[in-house]
Amino acid sequence: MRKKIAAGNWKMNTNPEDGLKLASQVVQMAQDESISDTTIIMSVPYTHIERIKKIIPPTKNILIAAQNCHQEVSGAYTGEISAPMLQYLGVDCVILGHSERREYNKETYAELKTKTRIVLKHQMTPIFCCGEKLATREESAHFDLVKEQLSSSLFEFNAIEFAQLIIAYEPVWAIGTGVTASSEEVQEMHHFIRYTIAKKYGESVAKQIPILYGGSVKPENAQTLFSCPDVDGGLIGGASLDAKGFIDIAKSF
Ligand code: PGA
Repeated sequence: MRKKIAAGNWKMNTNPEDGLKLASQVVQMAQDESISDTTIIMSVPYTHIERIKKIIPPTKNILIAAQNCHQEVSGAYTGEISAPMLQYLGVDCVILGHSERREYNKETYAELKTKTRIVLKHQMTPIFCCGEKLATREESAHFDLVKEQLSSSLFEFNAIEFAQLIIAYEPVWAIGTGVTASSEEVQEMHHFIRYTIAKKYGESVAKQIPILYGGSVKPENAQTLFSCPDVDGGLIGGASLDAKGFIDIAKSF
């Protein structure tokens, strides 16, 4: 059985105090027995990590994630944050290759490969994002692109390394737009991703990798999306900024 995961991506939202309040509400609501087998992840701004980490009970299925890290461990990289710094704070997961970072920060396949390696080396779980823009889907090139995103950054890892990843499929046209991909479109791509992984690493690795869907997931559509056989949860942006809505999503499996 693969893990069920509800991962919130707060992006660049909340000040540290409001962020702590939001995280406390999530932690409290996550005590609900009905979601005791769901992993809740909060991907928070760097500035919030230390204080939020302190209120997460170690026994619960609640993890804290960063939204990026630099590919080098230290050095003259003004303004950057490294994997060892995040590991020191007790960060569990790191989002890598989010489409906003690929777009605005011009993250390349090669950089994302190095970042993935560094995050794994520091005992954290990469949440590796992939997904196409609308124009790519309209040209029917979305499967090829997602395969290229995975193979160019990840397929040099061995099976033991690869098996530690979480993959998030986030069609760019559905992020923050209110337009959700249909459950057929989502299942089709998730199945394709799992098939692509199986071809490279074998069935048993493919079966154990959690593949999350991201793009306008809301309490109203989460159940339909999470009922797709190859969808193991969501990477949730806007709707994760409301604790009740986020936990309602986590209850939608
Ligand atoms: P959204 O963002 O839920 O606001 O569409 C998802 C994401 O970018 O991870």
